[in-house]
Amino acid sequence: MDFETVVRTRFSARMFKPDPVSDETIERILEVAQQTPSWCNTQPWHLTITRGQGTQRFREALVAHARSGAKPQPDFAFPAAYEGDYRERRKVCGVQLYQSLGIERDDRGRAAQQALENFNLFGAPHTAIVTTDEALGVYGLLDCGLYVQTFMLTARNLGVDSIAQAALASYPNLIRAHFGLPAHRKLVCGISFGYAIAEHPIHSYRTQRTSIGDVVTFVD
Ligand SMILES: Cc1cc2nc3c(=O)[nH]c(=O)nc-3n(C[C@H](O)[C@H](O)[C@H](O)COP(=O)(O)O)c2cc1C
Repeated sequence: MDFETVVRTRFSARMFKPDPVSDETIERILEVAQQTPSWCNTQPWHLTITRGQGTQRFREALVAHARSGAKPQPDFAFPAAYEGDYRERRKVCGVQLYQSLGIERDDRGRAAQQALENFNLFGAPHTAIVTTDEALGVYGLLDCGLYVQTFMLTARNLGVDSIAQAALASYPNLIRAHFGLPAHRKLVCGISFGYAIAEHPIHSYRTQRTSIGDVVTFVD
């Protein structure tokens, strides 16, 4: 795939086949993603990647925690509100998701069930927990964001589908305890990955982007 095709055809997968990604392919994704630039070349990202029973035990722990009604306690505050354009864009992508699954607007039960799928890792055979070092602050977080995109694009180029999941950053204490991560590793997000069930209705739409005129100002 040429680079533009990789970028244009990546999408967030939300229904995976159980088939694992080979260790060789995972290593290749990691080798390429490791080329991500970072401030002063600090490379502040760390990944905890689950395979096989590791994924199964993790999803069971997450689903049980989410079902228990545990309150999200993210290391980095989630947006308090979405207003204006952000509110509209968020709404549209939510409507697309629910419509693809035939979930009615006021069917809170099914919407909540679908939200819980985040903690089931959408059935993916692997998830990568991405953490940054607290000492590197907001720019360490930015570097990790770049890393996440390099990882997802490289995966796409190798035929591997993925989804970044801020939902997993809801429960950093549980995740640190589960994987034995030290307190200074702050949770950025998860990336669940594997092979999407392409023909599933949840993959029948693609999100749109606003025009570049809305986000770019040229100065001559
Ligand atoms: C940092 C980040 C966190 C995200 N967290 C979630 C999430 O928790 N659950 C989810 O279903 N999608 C999540 N997404 C996916 C976005 O909803 C998706 O990228 C966006 O709607 C654009 O769609 P696309 O990825 O298919 O192009 C996240 C994306 C990013 C970049």
